[in-house]
Amino acid sequence: MKDRFGREIDYLRISVTDKCNLRCRYCMPEDGVQLLSHKEVLTIDEYLKIVAIFQKKGIRKIRLTGGEPLVKKGILDLIKGIRDLGIEEIAMTTNGVLLGEKARDLKKAGLDRVNISLDTLDPEKFKELTRGGDLQDVLGGIRACQKEGLEPVKINTVLVKGFNDKEVSRLISWAGEEKIILRFIELMPIGEAIQYKDQQMFFDQWNKGDFEPLPGKPLGGPARYYRHKSGATVGFINPVSCQFCEDCNRLRLDCKGNLILCLHSTEKINLKKPLRTGEDVEKIIDRAILEKPESHHLNEGQYNPSQMNTIGG
Ligand code: 5AD
Ligand code: SF4
Repeated sequence: MKDRFGREIDYLRISVTDKCNLRCRYCMPEDGVQLLSHKEVLTIDEYLKIVAIFQKKGIRKIRLTGGEPLVKKGILDLIKGIRDLGIEEIAMTTNGVLLGEKARDLKKAGLDRVNISLDTLDPEKFKELTRGGDLQDVLGGIRACQKEGLEPVKINTVLVKGFNDKEVSRLISWAGEEKIILRFIELMPIGEAIQYKDQQMFFDQWNKGDFEPLPGKPLGGPARYYRHKSGATVGFINPVSCQFCEDCNRLRLDCKGNLILCLHSTEKINLKKPLRTGEDVEKIIDRAILEKPESHHLNEGQYNPSQMNTIGG
């Protein structure tokens, strides 16, 4: 399926819950989320019906996100169902806390690989950032993924000046030793993160002498990859400074059944209601896709106040 600007849309990110077992300061309000009633959220069966429609429209890759996707009841059934539909690639973005106990079942259900969010290797800082998380859970989760073959494991690190910018070298050598692909992401001013706007760290501020560019897009997605002088593969995801909107191939679905055309747009297209009342959801998607924005306007100060945990990063 193509949008108005000729972009081929083949990637759907599904936020399966807005709940999370951590409370990262740039993502979630301290007191968490308001509980949604059962009726408000899509059932596993409804997710699968929507995915089947999207598959027909050309979606080949699905990523499950949250909140934290591993706290969602029925996540294994959802993965199995998506696998049975014949989607080519199923990935997940997770905080990794529950991977130690779940990696094996996830692999068995048909998950291909995971991206794990990890911003610091310092246990105290991790606890502070996540408001109470235990770094050891995440490190154990990474090992479990490597053992079960949920690979390549990619780590997403959001850099926040004054918080973890001094840890860059340590993170890179750790990733090299563990044979993990590390990606540094520019903090996007959205929801809770708007308050950290002055602590953004941009790609241009890096000493690029230590990095040799790898040609093309070796691992897919919006990251540009480099070989660090230590041997580690390091990616940079620069949504703010080097917009990759012109290559955007993605749509988002939230747990209330809203289609979101761009992370930075507040517009939502409700698919749950038409699905429940038997309307033609495919037609609604066809019309919606034409409204996908050409790009975000972060650099002109237009920020989405929606909380990241409801959209899935
Ligand atoms: N800017 C950039 N990345 C973010 N993430 C969450 N909030 C932001 C933000 N404001 C990251 C998480 C996770 C992924 C889903 O998005 O750290 O790795
Ligand atoms: Fe949870 Fe991820 Fe948000 Fe942290 S960033 S609160 S782990 S959803």
